[in-house]
Amino acid sequence: MKRPTHGGNLAWAASLASCPSSLILDFSASINPLGPPKSALAAIESGLQDLVAYPNPSYYQLRVSLSQLHPTLDPDWILPGNGCAELLTWVCRELAQLEETFLVTPAFSDYQRALKAFAGKVREHLLGLGVVGCPIPIPQSPIPKMVGLLLNNPHNPTGHLWDKEEIEPYLEQFALVVVDEAFMDFLPPDQQQSLIPMVQEYPNLVILRSLTKFYSLPGLRIGYAIAHPERLQRWQQWRDPWSVNTLAVAAAKAVVQDTEFQQKTWAWLKSARSQLFQGLVQLPGLQPYQSAANFLLVQSEQSSSLLQEKLLKRSRILIRDCLSFPELGDNYFRVAVRTQLENQQLLEALSRILS
Ligand SMILES: Cc1ncc(COP(=O)(O)O)c(C=O)c1O
Repeated sequence: MKRPTHGGNLAWAASLASCPSSLILDFSASINPLGPPKSALAAIESGLQDLVAYPNPSYYQLRVSLSQLHPTLDPDWILPGNGCAELLTWVCRELAQLEETFLVTPAFSDYQRALKAFAGKVREHLLGLGVVGCPIPIPQSPIPKMVGLLLNNPHNPTGHLWDKEEIEPYLEQFALVVVDEAFMDFLPPDQQQSLIPMVQEYPNLVILRSLTKFYSLPGLRIGYAIAHPERLQRWQQWRDPWSVNTLAVAAAKAVVQDTEFQQKTWAWLKSARSQLFQGLVQLPGLQPYQSAANFLLVQSEQSSSLLQEKLLKRSRILIRDCLSFPELGDNYFRVAVRTQLENQQLLEALSRILS
């Protein structure tokens, strides 16, 4: 079986570990271990009776529910999609019409997939991983051409969070600025650095959000874009009219109101991330990076793919090698933050291999 490029490929992991995939402890996909919330499961169950009808292609009720998360926004500024990944496709169709797109790397591999699909021209700008403050590696000087910018905040795979003030000047310089905020909801509202409050002022700004990571629903596929209504209506013309299924609509409407689950997640992440970080720092040959998200990038003296293989074979634990981020290569891996008990299992398994 081929080495996967995304996290969460349990079939591949299970074949290496020689066990059923249900026995793999998965640190490779950055999914909230507290979920899915009961509210989502209940909504899916009662949504089953609606499967006999097509969803309403305007997704109006869902857009109203999502606008409750972002009270300054009218529902017309929101477009739900089949995961953030679907909306990435449509925004990349627009980016591909520009002369080129500046991409901060290392980057989520789907950006290249979506830009390539429309023959978009990409110019990569490498992030200085060791550089203090981790500045966005793009000069804030006039950009002479019709150029787009695709950024991810907090950034995958480093977990770095840029202040919105660091991104704001680019809105004046680029023809189109896309900020993928797939992991922003893991920050409590008072710590988020979302550009959503600026979207009404800047028609060249598009924000992408995911509901699959925070609410542990990657198999259901649900995300949304926030942008000028004219742009979103254009995407709606391009795409399949029913790209968000009935059960995803039901679950999304329920989870956005689930403040108890949200509070529980914010409380868990703060302490579990710190526990995992402290544990990793103490292991020989490992150097984790500070992260604002629910995963940690770790620099490793040992080959990460070898470490991954040993963890699978000895402990049935799957970590994410960083081979799909070519700028990082084999001396980095990424781990999701899981429950304190599971984090401890990972730390002990790593310790047995490294000590
Ligand atoms: C940075 C980033 N954006 C978007 C996505 C896709 O999210 P979704 O499951 O909502 O399609 C991922 C998934 O790994 C991601 O890492």
